[in-house]
Amino acid sequence: MSVLITGIGELTTNDGPVSHDAALVLDGDRVAWVGPASAAPDADTAVDVAGRAVLPGWVDSHTHLVFAGDRTAEFGARMAGEPYKAGGIAVTVAATRAATDDQLAAVLREHVAEAVAQGTTCLETKTGYGLTVEDELRSAKLAAQHVDEVSFLGAHLVPSDMSTEDYVDLVCGEMLDAVTPHVRWADVFCETGAFDEDESRRVLTAAKERGLGLRVHGNQLGYGPGVRLAVELAAASVDHCTYLTRSDVDLLAQSATVATLLPACDLSTRQPLPNARELLDNGATVALATNCNPGSSYTSSMAFCVAMAVLQMRMSVEEAVRAATLGGAQALRRDDVGVLRVGARADVHVLDAPSITHLAYRPGVPLTYAVWRNGVLERQ
Ligand code: NIG
Repeated sequence: MSVLITGIGELTTNDGPVSHDAALVLDGDRVAWVGPASAAPDADTAVDVAGRAVLPGWVDSHTHLVFAGDRTAEFGARMAGEPYKAGGIAVTVAATRAATDDQLAAVLREHVAEAVAQGTTCLETKTGYGLTVEDELRSAKLAAQHVDEVSFLGAHLVPSDMSTEDYVDLVCGEMLDAVTPHVRWADVFCETGAFDEDESRRVLTAAKERGLGLRVHGNQLGYGPGVRLAVELAAASVDHCTYLTRSDVDLLAQSATVATLLPACDLSTRQPLPNARELLDNGATVALATNCNPGSSYTSSMAFCVAMAVLQMRMSVEEAVRAATLGGAQALRRDDVGVLRVGARADVHVLDAPSITHLAYRPGVPLTYAVWRNGVLERQ
């Protein structure tokens, strides 16, 4: 079944200049044609979007959606002046272990649906609230049923009943063996209070030996080795990048490792916002993602991240939209999403606005008008 989308007020494809006289044809789950409206081919159906802006669906390359429970109290304490501590993760670990598979699946389904309704069409999510072989395996299997990309984050926190040494041994051996068939990526929280440089390197190296791609949580709560390690091991992405030295920026600029910025997390944890300008001006590839999780960043709104990136991080609207679409795809090493070109996945976001500028000009206003995900019209 093919669909011709006409009446596009402004088309952002990430595959050429923005155009104002364009049409798009989707055929099944693929983009079949992009070009001037006057040359558009016939299709089985036509949808006139009446001057609205069209762009690729958001690619949210960093979320933690396999969880149970709530951390409202921790958030309240933070807003009253308490610092964010990685140890809060243990609260979600206890609730997640106690939840049934059906409860975890329901949470996943609800959050994916919430994200899609706001224009997100490709999602990564992580394990990391199980921290036993059985619970991490269950998280990986559940995640694989609901999202496009799954990362194993057994190295999220050392559980309170184990020594760091024993836990790293477990992650690098039995746990990785169990989850590897169900995930594409391995991630590690390389930060004071979580895993240090040597421990992180051990986990990432063991994952790489099993053929997994690598991602790193790094430089979130202070300066540290995360970026250096990610670049050394050719990780696809290093996420947070809130505290970067000049040498970290240079390393990112000279590598294919994407700097994934998570402004909603920095706001919710009262951290400074990352220096996106320095990264972009020096040639690093930047992605924006929500980091949706119940502790440090409980939002599924990519539009909110885009608005913050423009209003508070001095990214242009074009840079922010690109980072939230193509940047996310690059962080996931995918060339079929985050772009509207022939052969790409039919992931299309129609804004209820004439241009992408409205994403920052009208922050907080729900601007999603229609979403095709994999060629399926999810919302109108
Ligand atoms: O990306 N930094 C580590 N992990 C999450 C936080 C998870 C939590 O607090 O539950 C993050 O911010």
